[in-house]
Amino acid sequence: MLGISDALNYSQQFLKKEASDSDMETLRDVIRFHEYRYYVLAEPLIADVEYDHLFKQLKQLEHHNPLFITPDSPTQRVAVGIADGFQEVAHLVPMLSLENSYNADDLHAWDKRVKELVETDQVEYVVEPKYDGAGLSLIYENDLLLRGATRGDGAKGEDITNNTKQLRSIPLTAPFSKWNIQKIEIRGEVIIPNLKFRAINQKRLESNLAPFANPRNTAAGGLRMQNPIEVGQRGMEAYLYHISYVKLKDGNERLMNAFPTHDSAIRILHDAGLKSSYQGAIVCPNIEAVIHACNEYHNKRDTLPYEIDGMVIKLNNITLQEKCGATAHHPRWAIAYKFPARQATSTLIDVEFQVGRTGAITPVAKIEPVPLGGVTISSISLFNADVIKEKELKIGDRVLLERSGDVIPYIVKSLTEARTGNELEIVFPIECPVCGSRLEKPLEEAVWRCINSNCEAQRVEKIIHFVSKDAMDISGLGEEKIRRLYQEGIIKSIPDIFKMDYYRLSKMDGFGAKSIQNLKVALEEAKHRPLAKLIFALGIRFVGETTAKTIAKKIHHLKDLYTIPKEEFLKWDDIGEKVATTLTDYFGNSFNRNFIEELGELGIVLEVQEEAKQNLEDLTLNGMSFLFTGTLPTLSRGKAEAMVENLGGSVSGSVNKKLNFLVVGEDAGSKLEKAKTITSIRIIDEDAFLKLCEGQSID
Ligand code: IVH
Repeated sequence: MLGISDALNYSQQFLKKEASDSDMETLRDVIRFHEYRYYVLAEPLIADVEYDHLFKQLKQLEHHNPLFITPDSPTQRVAVGIADGFQEVAHLVPMLSLENSYNADDLHAWDKRVKELVETDQVEYVVEPKYDGAGLSLIYENDLLLRGATRGDGAKGEDITNNTKQLRSIPLTAPFSKWNIQKIEIRGEVIIPNLKFRAINQKRLESNLAPFANPRNTAAGGLRMQNPIEVGQRGMEAYLYHISYVKLKDGNERLMNAFPTHDSAIRILHDAGLKSSYQGAIVCPNIEAVIHACNEYHNKRDTLPYEIDGMVIKLNNITLQEKCGATAHHPRWAIAYKFPARQATSTLIDVEFQVGRTGAITPVAKIEPVPLGGVTISSISLFNADVIKEKELKIGDRVLLERSGDVIPYIVKSLTEARTGNELEIVFPIECPVCGSRLEKPLEEAVWRCINSNCEAQRVEKIIHFVSKDAMDISGLGEEKIRRLYQEGIIKSIPDIFKMDYYRLSKMDGFGAKSIQNLKVALEEAKHRPLAKLIFALGIRFVGETTAKTIAKKIHHLKDLYTIPKEEFLKWDDIGEKVATTLTDYFGNSFNRNFIEELGELGIVLEVQEEAKQNLEDLTLNGMSFLFTGTLPTLSRGKAEAMVENLGGSVSGSVNKKLNFLVVGEDAGSKLEKAKTITSIRIIDEDAFLKLCEGQSID
């Protein structure tokens, strides 16, 4: 096996300039190295597309020099090695990889090859999501789950049966005998839904732990955890998409005797009660329809509840699949269509320390600009000091970047093996980089803070938050304008916005008569924003939009909050110890009270406005809290939530004892499982929800 620095140097060399015939054996070694990092250690040192590019080069060189293909070339067999830990088990059928394609031309070429192999133009394809998770193989025998295994090296994996049983989406028994099946081996992918992943990371940040890099690695790590209880807490789900082996009751082992097509195979998985690709699959009569389906999925990629890194296209007819056969690396009857990369490598040039509106110091990495998923990235948040430490980042490092569905790019890791020795330590400041006050960090927190609430950085960030779209929504005053006005001394605090010196403003670039007139109107409008918006705009720590809405529903006037005791706050939906303490501290503080008085004097409405109050009296959902999970048959999530709020109910942020109704749609997630454990929560469907909205009773 190549050493790390050689492997990385050669990789860079072959990525910059195509390898030549004499490089063939070196290229094989480089690819073997990366396969070991990826499949065995789950610690890749290059991006997937970069690996694909190297693999393609080797295939091309071998294509031109067939006599020099070695039996142990990465093109001739699956990846090497297996990690320690769990017991090693052989798969019934090797778990192959997939060939990759990137555009319509690649797919047309593949379609042509398939038709040549099967000697007919009458082919039908199935397109399904390429789940971005960790591979899994399950065996059921006599309707019982017998074994769960990781992919391992493709031939042998690790026995993770106990951990598999912690995944609620995998049934312990499944009625395969209904289809005459005595034994079955099924392939799938274990993923963590984006929402769950974000919640896990939020919790980790609050508990002073570095956030996980991405759902894929978190799922791969989750499957191999030693403690099955912790496995159950990761919110992992298994999507099954392929039957690799069957034995029918009469002993027959031909797949085609169990199901004629791929879509009937995944239909069996679906009907047997497993989560499968069946619902996401599209049957296509030709390659044009395949390309259309891939594009459609690409467009909605960011709206899916989990990460996909592309699509998989499969020949539908099983007899024809067998006719196509497989190489040692991949089946010829299937191909992956990869979406543009959301991973890249770059160099960490510097780290800047920014001060947020609550004084939190956020280290921000400045990197050599690199295109990533359609945008050029040059700076990335590092969250807190612990992240720098855990990722062992140094200035000058090569870093692996990723941009997941939630659009925020992050540094997956530093490629420490590529270091030259000239890298520099990142020194976290001990003083606020803006006002110079000493920074503080409560023991149980991960974040250092500037505790000088008069700090210029905090003041300007608070103003920016106040005018932002989700807060007071003052159009014409964006972030950049606020910074300029602050620097000019025109706006030094939030009340200054409403005491604008229009004469000085008119002397500044970008403020013509028309935009000043518009601004005056916008400011007048903003004075009448709903109370929830104003509460959110105050920028109180931990008080997000949902909490602000909860608070606004409970009071008539902002000043009511001056006297509400902590115990009362704790009785409200979604308000825990932390938020209750912050609220009592904030509204007990005379500086904050003076600030609120001043807002009132400037004409900002501090109370629930008449019209809204009147409505509240005959609202059908008053006092009821709702949470939605899964896809509802007719209502979008946004629409359903708006209905709840318009009818005086509240939308809860999580499943907890205070929740009244969980409204469940198709593909409901872990919320449903959790709600089942709390007897006071009523689990209802859309029909029942609509009845409640109309004021009818439900059984
Ligand atoms: S089919 C012989 N279908 O992608 C069957 N694979 O990059 C080959 N993957 O090794 C696999 N979603 O772990 C298939 N819908 C899907 C998939 C899928 C994700 C994974 C699988 C495979 C890898 C190749």
